[in-house]
Amino acid sequence: MIEIRDLWAGYGELDILRGFEINVESGTTNCIVGPNGAGKSTVLKALSGLLSPSMGSIVIDGVDVTGEPPSVVLRAGIAQVPQRNGLFAGLSVKENVLMGAYVIRSNRRALQSRYEQLCETFPILRARAHEPAGALSGGQRRMVEFARVMMLKPRVVLLDEPTLGLDPKSLSIISDSVAAMQREGVTILMVEQNVRFGLRLADHATVMSAGTVALAGTAEEIRDHPNLMSLFFGHAPAEVTNGDSDLRPTAQAAQPSRGPV
Ligand SMILES: Nc1ncnc2c1ncn2[C@@H]1O[C@H](COP(=O)(O)OP(=O)(O)OP(=O)(O)O)[C@@H](O)[C@H]1O
Ligand SMILES: [Mg+2]
Repeated sequence: MIEIRDLWAGYGELDILRGFEINVESGTTNCIVGPNGAGKSTVLKALSGLLSPSMGSIVIDGVDVTGEPPSVVLRAGIAQVPQRNGLFAGLSVKENVLMGAYVIRSNRRALQSRYEQLCETFPILRARAHEPAGALSGGQRRMVEFARVMMLKPRVVLLDEPTLGLDPKSLSIISDSVAAMQREGVTILMVEQNVRFGLRLADHATVMSAGTVALAGTAEEIRDHPNLMSLFFGHAPAEVTNGDSDLRPTAQAAQPSRGPV
């Protein structure tokens, strides 16, 4: 379980996160959405230890990891999939994935057996094992990146915009990969710019605005929330007629179960 309380963090003197809070139950997926610059990536950076908070706490499964460096956070079972293209293009798919386990002390046999396990959930690992990662499509590379992180058997996976730069045809590769991680019982905290897509994958959702939580609820509640559009664009849904349909709330917008906080 991820518990973040009253988190303040930023760059230099400037606090970007201003009292951010979230609870992600073990084995569930929470998707953070919000306008550009709201601080979504900053939350993940604070969690993975890339950024040290000035105030507040981050507790994972009862262990306080606030302000710990990335190496400690990783060993505590919290892994982040890098935002884009973290693979070595000249190395094979298999070499790239095995490299994911470099931080854990494990013998070759254990690594091989974990790889075999992952071949069942990420089919590309068997189909393209010996091809250079550089020969794969963008979506396929993402799947290999997910598999590489799963070599560590993480308890928590952080995903920053997994669909960034992918064409719509590749989206199913991302949802299949997220589903594979969910089947392994991993707790997932993801940020996604394609709001509809992210909410479909998630159990719960958190809408961020100016470094804090504007709305929180089940993914369904957030999807249908009448204030969703105004939080993104600063005006009422009715005014947005030519906007991104991914963001448009459905016609049968439900009553909010939780208003803005
Ligand atoms: N390394 C940095 N140094 C200084 N300011 C930064 C740095 N990284 C981000 N910021 C600023 O912090 C704010 C929040 O950035 P963040 O990347 O968390 O937003 P985001 O919600 O992930 O946005 P996006 O949807 O564009 O990815 C922005 O104003 C950004 O300019
Ligand atoms: Mg971001």
